[in-house]
Amino acid sequence: MKLIYPGSFDPITLGHIDIIKRGSVFADELIVSVLYNPAKKSLFSVEERIDLIKESVRIKNVTVDFFDGLLADYVKKVNASAILRGVRNSSDFENEKLYAVNNYLLCGVDTVFLPAGQATGHISSSIVKEIAAIRFKKDMNTNIISDLVPQNVSLAIKNKFL
Ligand code: PNS
Repeated sequence: MKLIYPGSFDPITLGHIDIIKRGSVFADELIVSVLYNPAKKSLFSVEERIDLIKESVRIKNVTVDFFDGLLADYVKKVNASAILRGVRNSSDFENEKLYAVNNYLLCGVDTVFLPAGQATGHISSSIVKEIAAIRFKKDMNTNIISDLVPQNVSLAIKNKFL
């Protein structure tokens, strides 16, 4: 089974890493794939995001890639068996259900959901960036985001605000 775990990963968080670890258990191959969307403002470039993922996830059957355009086209191109997404709450579920149904109609490939773990269900890349942007302006020595992202990401975010 070849699973695609797509996302913005701007940046990867401990929530994403939990989904990757748990998803990799039932996949022969899990491809974490970063969406390249030049129209969307991001903190990290696609190359930086890929490097941060590679540094923070070292699992034998997990690789990192990127895609642009429609996820359904990419899924077909790489001949994936299923799409993997994490779901934190009912709002995530409603959004993901819409994506899943449309992706299935577009490429005939289903999406499997994993519930976010209890320790990570509150984490989002946007919240990490919001906290960092406000706090790092005042205090660069704080490790306020160290429970939300891996250490390499925490350092990379600090460097962005230096
Ligand atoms: O990490 P995110 O931002 O929640 O990931 C969202 C993502 C990348 C999975 C979603 O935006 C996506 O698949 N974008 C590609 C464009 C696309 O296929 N849109 C139509 C979906 S039916």
